[in-house]
Amino acid sequence: MELTSSRSLIVLRLSSALAALLTLIQAVLVILTAAKVAKLIGAHGGVGYLSLLATITATIAAYVWFRKGGSKGLMMHAGGIAVLMIVQIALGELKVVWVHVGLGIIIVLGAVALATLAYRKPGGAV
Ligand code: HEM
Repeated sequence: MELTSSRSLIVLRLSSALAALLTLIQAVLVILTAAKVAKLIGAHGGVGYLSLLATITATIAAYVWFRKGGSKGLMMHAGGIAVLMIVQIALGELKVVWVHVGLGIIIVLGAVALATLAYRKPGGAV
């Protein structure tokens, strides 16, 4: 199968797009909570665990794709975001709010960048 139409790259693209979407939804949930529209921090935390699952899926797919000749950089990027998300969940649960907010912005940007790269410039040996 051609490297750019490989199943692992398709899974990487879909799961990284889902992860990016979920992190953006998290930011919206926090903004709605801060604006006192509704209390959505519980939902924000739940979506946080889902975004970690999507990112772990993306990391596994990126690893499989890398083994077929795909990009090492994408695999490291996905794995790096998964690790940051684990730290982020701990900070959220422990209510270390300001470090959590700063890291959250980095994670949203990193997740959007990962999905964009997976679709537009996956790299690798082709
Ligand atoms: C724009 C980025 C983000 C902002 C501004 C943000 C902000 C916050 C705030 C203000 C809280 C409440 C802390 C408290 O209860 O005092 C919170 C909780 C939490 N956040 Fe985030 N967060 C962001 C991204 C994320 C991400 C990416 C994850 C996970 C991958 C995450 C996971 C959690 C969890 C698990 C909680 C605890 C929820 C609970 O107490 O029920 N957050 N966040």
